[in-house]
Amino acid sequence: MARILFDNVTKYYGAVKAVDCLDLDIHDREFLVLLGPSGCGKTTTLNMIAGLEDLSEGDIYFDDQVVNFMPPHKRDVAMVFQSYALYPHKNVYDNIGFGLKMRKYDAAETDRLVRDAAERLEISHLLQRRPSQLSGGQRQRVALGRAMVRQPSVFLMDEPLSNLDAALRISMRAEIKELHKSMQTTFVYVTHDQAEALTLADRIVVMKDGIVQQIGTPDEIYEHPKNLFVASFLGNPPINLLEGSIVVKENKTLFRKGDFTINFSAEVSEKIAQYAGHEVILGIRPEDVDEKNAAVFGQGIAGLVDTVLPMGSEQYLSMHIEGSEVFFRVGKELRHRDGDEVNLAVNINRLHVFDKRSTLNLIWA
Ligand SMILES: Nc1ncnc2c1ncn2[C@@H]1O[C@H](COP(=O)(O)OP(=O)(O)OP(=O)(O)O)[C@@H](O)[C@H]1O
Ligand SMILES: [Mg+2]
Repeated sequence: MARILFDNVTKYYGAVKAVDCLDLDIHDREFLVLLGPSGCGKTTTLNMIAGLEDLSEGDIYFDDQVVNFMPPHKRDVAMVFQSYALYPHKNVYDNIGFGLKMRKYDAAETDRLVRDAAERLEISHLLQRRPSQLSGGQRQRVALGRAMVRQPSVFLMDEPLSNLDAALRISMRAEIKELHKSMQTTFVYVTHDQAEALTLADRIVVMKDGIVQQIGTPDEIYEHPKNLFVASFLGNPPINLLEGSIVVKENKTLFRKGDFTINFSAEVSEKIAQYAGHEVILGIRPEDVDEKNAAVFGQGIAGLVDTVLPMGSEQYLSMHIEGSEVFFRVGKELRHRDGDEVNLAVNINRLHVFDKRSTLNLIWA
């Protein structure tokens, strides 16, 4: 059992507030991902769980026990770092088994655990090699193996895949997910890669400047971002943003930017009408348009394509709306050329409206 609870935890490094009043309940056996840009406090948060950093304020609990002053080796956590930190002069077998040796496991038990981990990570044939004789992906597996054999209640990972090339990263993601399933322990995983977070997490914690922006399942975070930062941080290409205002006219609620208008659905209008006259930012995800079924949604973006960006299975169109550059994803059935005139239906059930000043999502916040 390992539930980890942050109760109003703050961490200062001198004058820098690396983590600011963090309240977070990490469930037993959950796969929790800490996501955010460089310097937002992810590693600091992970290190506080590991016991590698002191807290400035607040408490951390493992189940019902406060662990603020518990040394790392008593915490039953294992950590995998971005730099694999393998012992260069030991072979793979000894690298994986080293922590067990230090903990005075007997040789037979160590051998069983090392071979079992190596088999699960498909590196059994590499046990006699030194780290310098391994590829990046293989080294990362050794680092995972070293953490696995400890059979910790909490598995901490700090950007473990960021040194790998793109293809390997995707296959390792799947393996880490498998590992979580088979180990049945709590995983806390740090990344600044939104795709990694969306693929791996049961829940994502989005952080910025040491402050939690939103906690939720990948779907909640992507579909219902609470503010402009969360909306912009997730999505590739990023969400399109248009500055304009809310207009209420003849029982209709619209977004207006110059000559461009969008009628909100009845459901959204109910939430938005009270902001008539407010300056807002409209968010349209690139995928939330439809070229073939314009009649279904009934709200259009008509204009000229500046540039077509073919992506194999789909195409992205770059266009301008009232001077702002936007990108939309369309299927590849219709082959477009630069300069084509297109008419895209906007899915008005998936729009986002952010208050310009507070940046809160007025529909979902
Ligand atoms: N030992 C330290 N001394 C002083 N400031 C630190 C120290 N460690 C981190 N910081 C500061 O605390 C803040 C959070 O750092 P942290 O390493 O937790 O960020 P991060 O989200 O892990 O970033 P990255 O994605 O770059 O690894 C940053 O502003 C950083 O400069
Ligand atoms: Mg970090």
